Amino acid sequence: MNERHKRLERIFDGWAASYGRSPKEEGLFVGYRRSLEGAAALARVSAGMRVLDVGIGTGALAEKLAARGAQIWGIDISSRMLERCREHHPEFRLQSGHFLEIPFADGLFDRVVSSFAFHHLMPGEYRRAFTEVLRVMVPGGRFVIADIMFASDEERQAARDRLAAWWDEEEVYPFVPCVTAAAWEAGTAGVESHRLGWLHWAVTGSKPDAEGQREGGPGEATMRNPRAEGAGSGRR
Ligand SMILES: C[S@@+](CC[C@H](N)C(=O)[O-])C[C@H]1O[C@@H](n2cnc3c(N)ncnc32)[C@H](O)[C@@H]1O
Repeated sequence: MNERHKRLERIFDGWAASYGRSPKEEGLFVGYRRSLEGAAALARVSAGMRVLDVGIGTGALAEKLAARGAQIWGIDISSRMLERCREHHPEFRLQSGHFLEIPFADGLFDRVVSSFAFHHLMPGEYRRAFTEVLRVMVPGGRFVIADIMFASDEERQAARDRLAAWWDEEEVYPFVPCVTAAAWEAGTAGVESHRLGWLHWAVTGSKPDAEGQREGGPGEATMRNPRAEGAGSGRR
């Protein structure tokens, strides 16, 4: 873990006490609950699936997937967040861990999900994060990375102007095309981006099957509105 990661760990350890079950719906988290619903639907989880939540926090996304019958594993850099999560969900299997070094063997999970943790990575780290996500999934496994993201610099600037004091100059919020490109370069099949709300997007994709087949490419990554399509229903 480098200095920046250690600083983040301290910030989230400090935030854990007042965090409650989820962040307040203000600033960059306006629409948080609705976006989490969208992300949960995109995961297309069914009963018995093994799901890893990276940056699980207090477990807000994972609990939606547990309600659909998934078995939950969670990692987080903050031990205090994990304590809060354990209080609410003693049945989850939780441990300390980082996006860039997921502490599990290859091919263990049917799904890897993450909500509002990816934006703490730097753009140069995105590809490695996806390599890790793909590594720990079974062939054909699917991931959903939901977060604050922007489709373009214009969109980012508009949000910055509108949010004014809520905008955090220290954060490097991801651009959707950079995230989809990194996912593709790491070897993802069927990369797609989905607008979840004004400030929130999800990037989804799969680990290629045993034949190593994959479709599309970063330029062809599709942008979809899951609510307009009935999130998660049917195969895309
Ligand atoms: C804003 S909270 C979101 C928590 C939860 N997923 C949710 O949607 O409410 C971000 C979480 O990601 C964790 N986190 C940040 N960077 C991380 C990283 N590189 N690897 C794992 N967890 C990370 C933080 O400790 C924190 O618990």
